[in-house]
Amino acid sequence: MSHAEDHESSRRDFLYYATGGAGVVVTGAAVWPMINQMNPSADVQAASTLRVDVSGVEPGTQLTVLFLGKPIFIRRRTQEEIEAARSVDVSDLIDPVARNANLAGEVPATDENRALDDTGEWLVMQGVCTHLGCVPLGDAGDFNAWFCPCHGSHYDTSGRIRKGPAPENLPVPPAEFVDESTILLG
Ligand code: FES
Repeated sequence: MSHAEDHESSRRDFLYYATGGAGVVVTGAAVWPMINQMNPSADVQAASTLRVDVSGVEPGTQLTVLFLGKPIFIRRRTQEEIEAARSVDVSDLIDPVARNANLAGEVPATDENRALDDTGEWLVMQGVCTHLGCVPLGDAGDFNAWFCPCHGSHYDTSGRIRKGPAPENLPVPPAEFVDESTILLG
């Protein structure tokens, strides 16, 4: 990717805004170490939800929504990204667990168990590196997906850790489509 394209891609991250609630949209390039210090208490988390309008998100781009003090990546994946994610054997993964709050138990980290919808077009996950809490960069790293520059963790197009010190896949938070263009978080 040329520098100009990379710049353009970063700018696109700014163009979308969440609707309602206390959510704000930030660039995927932000690095916020110590983000866990901003966690709200458990009772506040239990009471909170956020509706996000994703109608303006083009394939190959993502929204970053700040929800309950943490960045949430909402990506509309291209067919190539979906195929790359679905061609991986779970036995090749560093973390074989899906880490999906919408599924009960420790299910395998197949892409089907992490994507929001059956087609795999939408992927929602917490944008907090599972190593020490930095915010990974989008469209970056060895898997052309997410890369954490703090200590070099590479995540694939399903948000699964593939290389570097992070021990776990990026967690998928409670999320669902409530109509064709609105995702409800929480
Ligand atoms: S915080 Fe991401 S690699 Fe260390």
